Amino acid sequence: MSGQFITIEGIECVGKSTNAKFIESTLNKKGYKTLVTREPGGSGVGEKIRNILLFEKKDTLSPMTELLLLFAAREKHINEIIKPALESGTWVICDRFTDASFAYQGFGRELGFDKVNKLKVLIQKDFEPDLTILLDAPLEVITSRRKLNPNDRFESEDRKFFERVRNGYLELAQIFKDRIKVIDASKDINDVQDQIKTLINEMVRDKL
Ligand code: TMP
Repeated sequence: MSGQFITIEGIECVGKSTNAKFIESTLNKKGYKTLVTREPGGSGVGEKIRNILLFEKKDTLSPMTELLLLFAAREKHINEIIKPALESGTWVICDRFTDASFAYQGFGRELGFDKVNKLKVLIQKDFEPDLTILLDAPLEVITSRRKLNPNDRFESEDRKFFERVRNGYLELAQIFKDRIKVIDASKDINDVQDQIKTLINEMVRDKL
């Protein structure tokens, strides 16, 4: 039996990594093998590409270069790490995936949905997450939680950029209603994790 592919999305500081670990421990308690990974990154080359994407000087990468680098890393990640793990029965939990390219490059950088979608079709064909958890919170909540890394090309963006990204994510959740589940991440952590647990329990039940 193959594993399931779960992705976690949202803008900076909504608690993606904490909740990735929470999903992992929830699944481990039920006896499932898991792998937590992330994008950009996840493979050796992917982590090198991540360094370029995050730490190159601000104006050296055009939005399209950025998008192509993300998909270059993603192609390796899918074929070398994610698919083999799923095929061996491991559940894969990925901190960001292609929805981030729609939200950040499509909406944030204003490349538009279609360009991102063309690359998605080329690289992924019909490969999609089984479940995407979108942790959503107003920018005010994020700003108060944020520890900025001023050298990171994304975190040094302005408020308007993050508004486009957040609204982009919410638009994606409308388009892909069956796959993307939105959770209010401004709530207390226990409340957020109760909602996540419910989604995971439903998923496990459906696979039995
Ligand atoms: P992280 O800090 O959540 O690991 O993500 C690093 C940055 O990469 C984050 O600011 C969002 C950005 N990113 C994109 O712009 N497009 C993508 O497709 C992915 C996966 C991440």
